[in-house]
Amino acid sequence: MLIKRLYRTIFSVFAHVLNFTGHRKAGVAAIMLCSLPVLFLMIIAPCEAKSPKVGTLDELLRMYDPTECRACHEDIFSQWETSHHARSVSEIFMDRYLKDGVLAVKSPQDATRENFPCFKCHFPQIDQATDTVAAEIAAAILSNDRAAIRKLNISCLVCHRDKGIVHGRPEQGTLYGNQEIPDHSEEKYLPVKKSPIMKQAVMCGQCHGLGPNFEFKYPVQCATLYGSYLHAYIPSGGTKTCQDCHMKNADHSCPPNFARRDEVSARLKTALPLEVSTLAYRFQPTENRFVPLVVVKTKITSKAGHRIPDG
Ligand code: HEC
Ligand code: HEC
Ligand code: HEC
Ligand code: HEC
Ligand code: HEC
Repeated sequence: MLIKRLYRTIFSVFAHVLNFTGHRKAGVAAIMLCSLPVLFLMIIAPCEAKSPKVGTLDELLRMYDPTECRACHEDIFSQWETSHHARSVSEIFMDRYLKDGVLAVKSPQDATRENFPCFKCHFPQIDQATDTVAAEIAAAILSNDRAAIRKLNISCLVCHRDKGIVHGRPEQGTLYGNQEIPDHSEEKYLPVKKSPIMKQAVMCGQCHGLGPNFEFKYPVQCATLYGSYLHAYIPSGGTKTCQDCHMKNADHSCPPNFARRDEVSARLKTALPLEVSTLAYRFQPTENRFVPLVVVKTKITSKAGHRIPDG
């Protein structure tokens, strides 16, 4: 509609000006020529329209199914499966938010995407879905359907398609990786294009947070670690990326995995070396009275690329 109105206005302005100058023939040609970009816009506009949102949770999960990648990327799949990314909604107490407070709903059917600001990072696929999908998810969460909740995760396609570029939209049927693979073996995802950010911190920063998310009706703040990386680690001379420290050799388990206490404490030991020195002495306030005292000096050095803990 808007384009049509624009077209009509341009047309009448031209007609007016050219009528006034009297160059009728040249005028018609000029109108035709100048109309071309507008016509082009009219044809291209519907193609540019966003792809329609999906109406069922099943459909949404199929669009992002990580098991499609399993056959050929078995090792990466099993690493990913153990990562926090593969259970990004299971452990966030979403039921409490839906029962009480500003995000609460009377019944699951009332839930819309507005009830899930947390999904901006915990399940960004919700962007592709309608409010009926939000209601389905609310029903699963409120009835504690753990099998259904476990399927809500940050799957391969979230990182290798949707978050593979920061400016513009990912191309249809395209994956993003470290290198160009025009004949990537999977029929559905033919080319892999080189992502400009796959090895950079900003890739992770898209979810690992800078601060409050003011775009929501009720702004939320969760992870702010990327802010600390940018504002503290980098200015003090840090040179490593998130991937250098958390994805060595493309390890998709992205440690730390807080479910594995032994692994976490081993990592913390090297990441947060603790130096302790003690000085023992006796204090003698009066004759024949000796009070044993000790001075303990502790120094913890953080070798992480940001403050810890976060979130
Ligand atoms: C800007 C992105 C973002 C938003 C929005 C967000 N989170 Fe998070 N959240 C993260 C990231 C990234 C982590 C993991 C890293 C960390 O803790 O620093 C996390 C971790 C968590 C954890 C700890 C999970 C665990 O396994 O220990 C909980 C709980 C959580 N978020 C709940 C929420 C809830 C509830 C909301 C909405 C009210 C929310 N988050 C909104 C990004 C976000
Ligand atoms: C949280 C985001 C994220 C998720 C989820 C994710 N990846 Fe990756 N993936 C990356 C990043 C970042 C790299 C580049 C790491 C590097 O080279 O330092 C990468 C690298 C790769 C590579 C190249 C490995 C290599 O040896 O260079 C493959 C293949 C891959 N991913 C497949 C997958 C598959 C399959 C899944 C799902 C099972 C998946 N990824 C899930 C972020 C992700
Ligand atoms: C039929 C086998 C097959 C399937 C299915 C498949 N891939 Fe691949 N993929 C390959 C091969 C082979 C390579 C090139 C060798 C390599 O780097 O692992 C590759 C490379 C990649 C790369 C680029 C690696 C780099 O170096 O940057 C990414 C990213 C990737 N695949 C992601 C995926 C994702 C995500 C899926 C599921 C949607 C998937 N692949 C499904 C076979 C497959
Ligand atoms: C689509 C959003 C998203 C992207 C992109 C993303 N993450 Fe995460 N990441 C999360 C969320 C959400 C969690 C918390 C999941 C949970 O436990 O509830 C998380 C958890 C983690 C954890 C586990 C520690 C913890 O506190 O739970 C690490 C480590 C991590 N991410 C590293 C990375 C790295 C490195 C990258 C970039 C290669 C990356 N992430 C990209 C959303 C994301
Ligand atoms: C110089 C190495 C280094 C860099 C760079 C780095 N990290 Fe970390 N990160 C660590 C260490 C070490 C820990 C804490 C030890 C542990 O539990 O594994 C940690 C912990 C974390 C955690 C868990 C936080 C918590 O609450 O305990 C997350 C999430 C995380 N890093 C994500 C990232 C992201 C995203 C980036 C990039 C913006 C990044 N890291 C950059 C080394 C690094």
